[in-house]
Amino acid sequence: MKRTPIGVFDSGIGGLSILKALRTELPHEDFVYIADSGHAPYGERDDAHVIGRSRAITAHLRAEHGIKALVIACNTATAAAIHLLRQEHPTLPIVGVEPALKPALALSKTRRIGVMATRGTLGSAKFRALLESLAEQAEFVCQPCDGLADAIERQDTAKIIALCTYYTGAMGQFGPKEGEIDTLVLGCTHYPFASQHLSRLAGPAVGLIDNGEPVARQTRRLLPTLSPDATPGHCVLLTTGERKALQNAAQHWLALDCPVESLLED
Ligand code: DGL
Repeated sequence: MKRTPIGVFDSGIGGLSILKALRTELPHEDFVYIADSGHAPYGERDDAHVIGRSRAITAHLRAEHGIKALVIACNTATAAAIHLLRQEHPTLPIVGVEPALKPALALSKTRRIGVMATRGTLGSAKFRALLESLAEQAEFVCQPCDGLADAIERQDTAKIIALCTYYTGAMGQFGPKEGEIDTLVLGCTHYPFASQHLSRLAGPAVGLIDNGEPVARQTRRLLPTLSPDATPGHCVLLTTGERKALQNAAQHWLALDCPVESLLED
C-alpha cells in the first residue's frame, strides 16, 4: 500500500510546535509541512488574506502531495478559514488548533487564566463563541501580542524578551494566590518557542498550556488510514520565505535534519 502524507501548514515556523507533537503521536506517518513565511504574519492581517493563503496552500498540498489529512497548525488560520476549507474539501479530514481554554480550566485553581494570541485569533467569531461558552467558569485575561510571532519567526531574542515582558506585564499579576493568573494559554503556535522566557516572567507557580498534544491525538482519530509499515516517517519541509530560517528552526526545535525546499508560486 502506498504511503500518503499528512499536510501541515502555518504562517511560518510556529506550526513546527504542532509538527513535533504529531511526529511523537504518529511516528510512522509522512508529513509535508508548509511555512508560509513569505506571507506572514497572519495574525495582524485581514481575514481575506488568511483565507486566500489557506485556500492556496490546501489546494497545493492536495494537488502536489495527495495528502490524506490536513492539520492547520495555526490558530489564526483555523479561526478564519477552517469552516470554509471543510466546506470546500468535504472528503478531506481537517484538524485545526484553537487556544486551549478548556484544558486551562481543568488546571486553574484561581480561575483567572491568561490567554496570549494574535489579534486575528482573539477578534474572530470562533474565539468569541468559545470564550462566551466558558465565561462563567473563569475570568479570561486576553492579550493580543502584536509583533511576537514575527520576532519568533526572525529569532530576534532581544525583541522576543522585550515583547514577552511587556505583554505579561500588561496582563496583571501572575501567581497561585486568589486574584492572580495561575494558568497561561499560549494561543498561537509560535509562542511555545518563547516558553522559556514566558515561564521565567510568569513564575514557577504558573502553568503554560498549548494544544500540540490534543491536536496530534485528534489527528490520529480522524486519519482514514494509518501508514502500512513500521519504518520512521519522512518529513518534507517547504517554505514561501527564507529556507534557512525554517531549516534552523526545524533543526533546533525538532532535531529534524532534512532539506528545506522553496515553494515557488505563480
Ligand atoms: N502561528 C500562528 C497562530 O497560531 C500565527 C502567527 C502569525 O502569523 O501571526 O496563530
